[in-house]
Amino acid sequence: MFPDCLNFSGRTIQEGSLKQHRTHSVCSMGWFSRIVCLFWGVLLTARANYQNGKNNVPRLKLSYKEMLESNNVITFNGLANSSSYHTFLLDEERSRLYVGAKDHIFSFNLVNIKDFQKIVWPVSYTRRDECKWAGKDILKECANFIKVLKAYNQTHLYACGTGAFHPICTYIEIGHHPEDNIFKLEDSHFENGRGKSPYDPKLLTASLLIDGELYSGTAADFMGRDFAIFRTLGHHHPIRTEQHDSRWLNDPRFISAHLIPESDNPEDDKVYFFFRENAIDGEHTGKATHARIGQICKNDFGGHRSLVNKWTTFLKARLICSVPGPNGIDTHFDELQDVFLMNSKDPKNPVVYGVFTTSSNIFKGSAVCMYSMSDVRRVFLGPYAHRDGPNYQWVPYQGRVPYPRPGTCPSKTFGGFDSTKDLPDDVITFARSHPAMYNPVFPINNRPIMIKTDVNYQFTQIVVDRVDAEDGQYDVMFIGTDVGTVLKVVSIPKETWHDLEEVLLEEMTVFREPTTISAMELSTKQQQLYVGSAAGVAQLPLHRCDIYGKACAECCLARDPYCAWDGSSCSRYFPTAKRRTRRQDIRNGDPLTHCSDLQHHGV
Ligand SMILES: *[C@@H]1O[C@H](CO)[C@@H](O)[C@H](O)[C@H]1NC(C)=O
Ligand SMILES: *[C@@H]1O[C@H](CO)[C@@H](O)[C@H](O)[C@H]1NC(C)=O
Repeated sequence: MFPDCLNFSGRTIQEGSLKQHRTHSVCSMGWFSRIVCLFWGVLLTARANYQNGKNNVPRLKLSYKEMLESNNVITFNGLANSSSYHTFLLDEERSRLYVGAKDHIFSFNLVNIKDFQKIVWPVSYTRRDECKWAGKDILKECANFIKVLKAYNQTHLYACGTGAFHPICTYIEIGHHPEDNIFKLEDSHFENGRGKSPYDPKLLTASLLIDGELYSGTAADFMGRDFAIFRTLGHHHPIRTEQHDSRWLNDPRFISAHLIPESDNPEDDKVYFFFRENAIDGEHTGKATHARIGQICKNDFGGHRSLVNKWTTFLKARLICSVPGPNGIDTHFDELQDVFLMNSKDPKNPVVYGVFTTSSNIFKGSAVCMYSMSDVRRVFLGPYAHRDGPNYQWVPYQGRVPYPRPGTCPSKTFGGFDSTKDLPDDVITFARSHPAMYNPVFPINNRPIMIKTDVNYQFTQIVVDRVDAEDGQYDVMFIGTDVGTVLKVVSIPKETWHDLEEVLLEEMTVFREPTTISAMELSTKQQQLYVGSAAGVAQLPLHRCDIYGKACAECCLARDPYCAWDGSSCSRYFPTAKRRTRRQDIRNGDPLTHCSDLQHHGV
């Protein structure tokens, strides 16, 4: 079951005059000997080599049984009458993970998810029967699948479910303080969930709740055809994308929504939606999927005469994630699956991580691409996609662009107007017919930071942790797959930031049966990862340093930024601890310089 010692090609390590091709193992003995299997030669062979997948052999591969036996996973195996643990909301302050599922909402203790409270929120018998009469599946469709779960105010969450093809929303009371121990459905007050939750449980909603307003990308009809980005709730009239116009949205599947400031002035705040959709006619021959980023201004209230209660600042651009193929044709990863925003000191410029798969049935592959917001903004300031009629090609628009430039938020920063309702008619007319940008957004360094093509699984989810190590800061990615595994990957700059090497640190099976990982959250406070699937919820620590082995060299070779050799064991690295006693080398993974005075601990 567990591969004993995988065969790596060695690498020449230079040690003074000694040039040696090392291939012998430093596997430690004892309990973990089956798991720990490290080679001197392994580490620097792991370069971004797209032709072979050798780079992606994990340092540690842990089966579900090994995870359980080493106390590295805690699972909630679901209720017999529930499923679809897909909607996550992390609350670090209260130390809770809220999870929306079929007919239930859970509040898990972040310390240990075995400790939880639950709300039962089924549909009435009448609703269920109506759903059944409409020809829907009683178990798989005619229930209340929770699709929206958001923090509303200091005391309440807002939740929406499919309500057996009859979307419904309400508030959940959680109290002022964690110790209040309140977790209660406001069942005296239900709201219509149309434009907030889809009808069909197979569809997703990407949503964001800010200042009492809910932004959601979803389908707003029974048939699942009327897809739109809505803003509902709050005091303003609901607003949405233009209806029945495939230039705006073309059978989209929404992934996530984020507020990202554009300047220091909140009037310029934008909400970005990530989604995938069918390519627009004429943009591509045949049926193709494109990954997209869409923007709207938070202070968009629609037009006055035209685009009334419709977004006037909606724009979208294609996100490219591709690698050059052998025959000069790029291999595209277009099926956007998940997005994670890594916040930096500057809230205007988070790094966008996207997980993509291929559309092809023959070629199964996954990739992670990274985007910068400045590249996104440059594309939104570039040429609009334009065509003169249905039978024309899409070209960059070269005519006069009306002022203020469509897509700009009404604010003092860029001057001129106070509200989208004051926009001149030519701006509205232009905005309506030019929702797409001509240029796509390319990833940082123009290529994925990780791809996986030679395996029988695909990536589905991503969360990223920024970790301080002895020799710098590293982004550690936790990638969920459709077979219930989590990959832990660190990308390490080699000579320059443009040359990244990804090292697959761990591959862990976190569910008993192969199942698609559909939700992930990471708690930096708890140093734990939480994973959801149709079957349940799993919790695992971000690091298991002791498993790397009982020698300095093993610890150092692992190149796990969370771990360092402390003189007697491989343990959690804290940047504040005394420097001299900690041995760690993420950049080069070179044990010879770091462990040579500690020979007696090692091989
Ligand atoms: C599902 O089962 C749990 C007990 O395991 C029960 O508390 C809950 O009410 C049931 N839910 C529904 C919708 O019947
Ligand atoms: C939060 O919202 C709920 C629902 O509207 C309301 O009943 C409650 O009073 C609000 N709490 C606070 C602290 O504003």
